[in-house]
Amino acid sequence: MGSGIRRSSSSFCVVVFVLILWCLCLANSEKIDGAKWRKKPVIITRSCNVYEGRWVYDESYPLYDSSACPNIRKEFDCKKYGRPDQLYLKYRWQPNDCDLPRFDAKDFLCRLQGKKIMFIGDSVSLNQMQSLICLLQTALPSTNIIKQTNDTVSSVIFQDYGVSVMVFHSTYLVDTEVVENYGRVLKLDSLKNGSIWKNIDVLVFNSWLWWYRRGPKQPWDYIEYDNKILKDMDRMDAFRRALTTWAKWVDSDVDTTKSKVIFQGVSPSHYNGDEWNEPGVTNCSMEKQPIMGSKYPAGLPAAALVVKDVLSTIKKPVHLLDITTLSQLRKDAHPSSFNGFRGMDCTHWCVAGLPDTWNQLLYAALINY
Ligand SMILES: *[C@@H]1O[C@H](CO)[C@@H](O)[C@H](O)[C@H]1NC(C)=O
Ligand SMILES: *[C@@H]1O[C@H](CO)[C@@H](O)[C@H](O)[C@H]1NC(C)=O
Ligand SMILES: *[C@@H]1O[C@H](CO)[C@@H](O)[C@H](O)[C@H]1NC(C)=O
Repeated sequence: MGSGIRRSSSSFCVVVFVLILWCLCLANSEKIDGAKWRKKPVIITRSCNVYEGRWVYDESYPLYDSSACPNIRKEFDCKKYGRPDQLYLKYRWQPNDCDLPRFDAKDFLCRLQGKKIMFIGDSVSLNQMQSLICLLQTALPSTNIIKQTNDTVSSVIFQDYGVSVMVFHSTYLVDTEVVENYGRVLKLDSLKNGSIWKNIDVLVFNSWLWWYRRGPKQPWDYIEYDNKILKDMDRMDAFRRALTTWAKWVDSDVDTTKSKVIFQGVSPSHYNGDEWNEPGVTNCSMEKQPIMGSKYPAGLPAAALVVKDVLSTIKKPVHLLDITTLSQLRKDAHPSSFNGFRGMDCTHWCVAGLPDTWNQLLYAALINY
């Protein structure tokens, strides 16, 4: 009897909670455009590849003022650390055959109502997560949020919508474990953290930055695959094997009717001017504008081809957030030395900036999934 009452009162709370969320989303969408968001037409047709296009100047950009976004990491907050030029903020990605939907923070949160989205990967994942938080928080400055952080996971919870935006730090996706007599072993066939990831509603993976690290920056001592432990091996081959382990895990362990799986394509660096026809240039410090047009002179990096290759073997639906070429064109969008540690960084990206476009593309992908 007692437990019956408790059960019915707790289900009453759930009903009220869902109703509040529903009202919030409905009311907001009516305020924005007079139409219910559920009835919004699908903007992108299957025949449009949103990843093929060019950068165009757009006076209405950036999508937010980064000084209105609290807690941008010192690595990405270019404006705060004195970047004087503004032009890099003023470019919009224009696909060849359609328009991207403008990022709509309320619609994004309403679509994900009650769900969790997790970015899993290296600091590039953190870069994208911080941009997403800025896009959401600057559009909804009075919405209630809670932050939680520990060694592996940082979460920002948008309480009014029941949405968690999380980043899970994983440099290689596969495991690194301490093995007796060897030390830290990078295990290309093992993906234990998958048991945590598979319970999340939207998963956005990325891995590339760390595969060629050597010397003191290499966070492992040996590498293992097929029950062999080696001192080292061809790094591209190692990347392919790890990605294949991940791909098999998606096919065997992820229920893609519940979880959406997205892989973020390789994020390029700009340290070699030969790639964009400026021989002798060794960093991005002088770059103030994107490369115009749709083609990056050097073409795709080899790792991007490996990603496409491995993804094509997956039987379940997986979306490639194919940001490689459009990011290669943005030699102007890195922090260079305008960051909290003053070191030259042509690997990460300013926030606001290019990762906002990645999130617009993520939004478009979720609408059309
Ligand atoms: C870190 O936080 C996540 C999400 O809040 C939680 O699931 C996980 O157990 C935590 N891990 C540790 C080691 O505390
Ligand atoms: C993820 O896997 C690694 C092994 O590579 C393990 O050390 C770590 O504790 C795992 N993280 C969590 C949150 O379980
Ligand atoms: C970056 O490039 C500029 C101009 O090409 C050069 O003068 C400078 O020394 C470079 N800085 C670093 C840290 O590589």
